[in-house]
Order: sequence, then structure tokens, then C-alpha cells
Amino acid sequence: MPVAVLISGNGSNLQALIDRADLPIRIRAVVSNEPGAFGLKRARRAGIETRVLSHRDYRSREAYDAALDALLDEFEPGLIVLAGFMRILTPTFVARFRGRMLNIHPSLLPRFRGLHTHRRALEAGETVHGASVHFVTEELDGGPVVLQARVPVLPGDDPEKLAARVLNREHRIYPQVVRWFAQGRLRLDAAGRPRLDGQVLKHPLQLAELTVG
Ligand code: GAR
Repeated sequence: MPVAVLISGNGSNLQALIDRADLPIRIRAVVSNEPGAFGLKRARRAGIETRVLSHRDYRSREAYDAALDALLDEFEPGLIVLAGFMRILTPTFVARFRGRMLNIHPSLLPRFRGLHTHRRALEAGETVHGASVHFVTEELDGGPVVLQARVPVLPGDDPEKLAARVLNREHRIYPQVVRWFAQGRLRLDAAGRPRLDGQVLKHPLQLAELTVG
């Protein structure tokens, strides 16, 4: 399956996809809104085509998303993977890729939508935190969750330590969900419910173990 990966930064989730050589996908393009994103280097190193589309060159969110849409067209992706793409997408763009766009978010959704999730989890006194892979809908970080991974919050944690523990799990769950999608096992049905092997996922699936990782 042809895939386009959208990034803004480090690209470690992109790397996790690249490293899983057995995934039934071909990453046709990596697109970044940030010219300096390290993930672009990772892509080039892997021989993947890269494009920079800087939001600073566009007057409005609509104009940016229209340009992004046109750019993606060139690669005919069957799946758009948002991997640390730190932009809010317009409803028009989201609708265009309905059921064909996944995101990973560093919290146990619906807890802690938006930014600074690790700091907020610590401030809230959570004892368990994690990450979620979900289909993208118009609601920011609100689309149906497919798979989550939980990690413990440990004494002495700061946002960086917690982020590293969560990120380690992200690298497990994102390739798994991408695999299901590319295999045709996972889809979003007409009612907006995720289905795996035909079964509606009433609750997000959980990566079985609770590990420190
Ligand atoms: C990841 O933790 C991802 O969950 C998060 O950004 C990081 C990107 O890391 N995404 C969001 O916060 C989206 N709202 P990476 O560039 O190393 O993959």
C-alpha cells in the first residue's frame, strides 16, 4: 500500500515504520512543514522521497491544506500517516482522507487532547499514561481510537522521562495499526466506527503489557 508520512520533527515514529521492513507498505513520500525536521534526514537515508511544505509560505490554513492536498495527490497514497505532524488540519482536508488517515497522540485518549500531554498527566497525578493511535476526524485528537499502549508513571518522573517511556511504546503500536490497515483488516465503517476483521471496536485495543520499556 502506498503511504505518505507527514512529520514536523524528530521522526522517530517514521523511523519505526521504516525499520519494520516486513510491513506491507511502501512509503512513497515524507512531507514536513518544518524544513529542519530531523525526520527528513531519516527519510533520505532510507531512500524515501521528501518534500518540505512550510506553513510560513501560506496565508491561511485553507491555502496550506489545499497545497498539501495537491502535493499528496502526486503520490496517490492509500494511507496518510501523521507522525508528529504538529498542525491542525482543516475539515475539508480531513474529509478528503476520511478513513485513510491515522494519527498517533501521546496520551490515553480521550484524556489530554492537545499539547503538553506528559506535563499535564504529571500535574493531574496520573499513575498510568500512554499513547493512542486513532483515525483522524474533524475533532482535534477526537477520532476513534484503535490501539493504545499504557505505561506507568513512576516516582521521580519529569515530562522528558515520561515522554521517552511513552515514545518507546508508540514505536510498537503505530506499526501494528498501519499493518492492519495495509492488510485490509482495519477500516472505518460508514458510521465512523473502526472495524478490525469486520468486528466493531467498541473500546480501543490495548497493547497487552504494562511495561517500563
Ligand atoms: C510523538 O510523541 C507523537 O505522539 C507526538 O509527537 C511526537 C513525535 O515524535 N504527536 C503529537 O503530539 C500530535 N498531536 P517523533 O517525531 O519522534 O515521531
